[in-house]
Amino acid sequence: MSAPSTRRVIIDTDPGLDDAVAILFALNSRRFDVLGLTSVAGNIGINITTKNAGRLLALLDRESIPVITGAAAPLARKGIEEAGIHGNDGLGGVVLPEPLAKPHGYAPFWMAEQLRANHAGSVDILALGPLTNIALLLRDHADAARRIGSLIVMGGVVHDKGNVGPHSEFNFACDPEAVDAVLRSGLDVTLIPLDVTRKVRASVEFVQALRTGIAGNAAADLISAYFQDGHESRPLHDPCVMLLALAPELFGIETRNVSVDLSDGPDAGALVAGMASVKIAMRVDVEGVLGLLAQGLA
Ligand code: RIB
Ligand code: CA
Repeated sequence: MSAPSTRRVIIDTDPGLDDAVAILFALNSRRFDVLGLTSVAGNIGINITTKNAGRLLALLDRESIPVITGAAAPLARKGIEEAGIHGNDGLGGVVLPEPLAKPHGYAPFWMAEQLRANHAGSVDILALGPLTNIALLLRDHADAARRIGSLIVMGGVVHDKGNVGPHSEFNFACDPEAVDAVLRSGLDVTLIPLDVTRKVRASVEFVQALRTGIAGNAAADLISAYFQDGHESRPLHDPCVMLLALAPELFGIETRNVSVDLSDGPDAGALVAGMASVKIAMRVDVEGVLGLLAQGLA
């Protein structure tokens, strides 16, 4: 039986505890050909998100994969930090090795180089944080941006309540202008909103069962630092991006026409009815995706 195909991806990320689990899954599962990790400011500042990306690669001896520093701030607004959830180190106090390689600069330019160097449509972008880097790629390297295969994004909320404003989600509330650029881009975009990610949580038993090797142990430590109460974790938002990339059949995906609230009000970044046609995951086979997550971290 032929080995399952690997997907060539760029992971754009603001690690962040759930980002870190998603990255460990992508690296350890061997189902992704990770071209690089592009950092963005989000959960915590750019220096820490960049360093944490390097720590994850060092942990798994994958420092041959480059980390590329991205945007230190949103396109047009002040950022929002989530140190309350992810801690001042962005990893909830979980100690990971020092990076073994220096980060490269500058993410939008590097993304464009990669997209031009690979066949059009062969590179997907997995977006786990604010969309600032991708908006800059669209603005400054439009020819290369058109070569993106799929853009799979953790962000937004449809029917659930927001986690920043009443109807806005953190990644989108950080940089609404970047969301607007992505929605207007005409790219193949799939959004995974809080409506879905909030259903994907780890139990204590699930976490314990992960402890079978370096990646699983680190993921177990990171998820344990991400527990809200004694029996289940906060939502595993970002791993859902990799899980949908590998197994879209485990998600119920609809096409909806949306735009984004660009006001200065409390719901800046909220998805609203609009003109952009995007795919949005609205349902998930929770048992199926948790099983795939555990398999990839084993
Ligand atoms: O709203 C959840 C998103 O915000 C996740 O990507 C989490 O890492 C934070 O960036
Ligand atoms: Ca994130």
